[in-house]
Amino acid sequence: MNIILLGAPGAGKGTQAEKICEYLGIPAISTGNIIREALKSGTEMGLKAKSFMEAGQLVPDEVVIGIIKDRLKEDDCKNGFILDGFPRTIPQAEALDTMGVVIDKVIDIEVPDEKIVARMSGRRVCGNCGASYHLMYKQPKVDGVCDLCAGTLVQRKDDHPDTVKERLTVYHSETEPLKDYYSKQGKLRIVEGQEEVSDTTALVYRELGE
Ligand code: AP5
Repeated sequence: MNIILLGAPGAGKGTQAEKICEYLGIPAISTGNIIREALKSGTEMGLKAKSFMEAGQLVPDEVVIGIIKDRLKEDDCKNGFILDGFPRTIPQAEALDTMGVVIDKVIDIEVPDEKIVARMSGRRVCGNCGASYHLMYKQPKVDGVCDLCAGTLVQRKDDHPDTVKERLTVYHSETEPLKDYYSKQGKLRIVEGQEEVSDTTALVYRELGE
């Protein structure tokens, strides 16, 4: 199954992508994670993306479309994939169509803006492996230390409240129109993000099963 996860920044796309990945055994592809990796390794693409990302703006379409085009050619995508954070604009969705990629379901996780700002300020990520934690909802075993690799937990630069607000503005103007785009194709499924991660996961699985 080829799945797109839509939703505002911090709606829980990454969290649910991990669950679906385990459940269906298909890879979760996050353009955000790919760009952050490129940034860390100092590649040309990473350097190009840095200022956009840190300001809460979208990275130019041609950069992310190129990333996805290459990634979907890899072997592990043959039996399906989960796109987390792509497409984020109408031209990106059109690029997928042009590539001949058939999407089965688009799951949109809906969370009100005010909840998002609170959630994002509590997120911490491992500076080494990128694993994600939350000060309240997903605490590491040892404060400030990654359970997986013992790396130090840090706050993403774009998780500071002012940048989150900018990301939400960009989401409403550039990404939200995709709901209409996929609704017209009969692929859109809306899930209300719940207080507990597992409750959201149950709703997502229900939509995938139908
Ligand atoms: P990206 O990394 O994709 O950021 P995002 O969409 O803003 O998503 P996040 O990772 O911030 O949030 P999420 O929805 O995955 O939520 P999560 O599960 O972590 O992109 C970053 C940047 O890269 C963009 O701003 C842009 O610059 C660039 N970029 C990427 N893709 C691009 C594209 N296609 N085009 C152009 N530019 C692109 O959850 C958030 C927090 O909430 C976590 O701490 C989690 O523990 C907690 N949480 C999750 N679910 C729940 C719950 N049910 N209850 C309580 N807490 C919860």
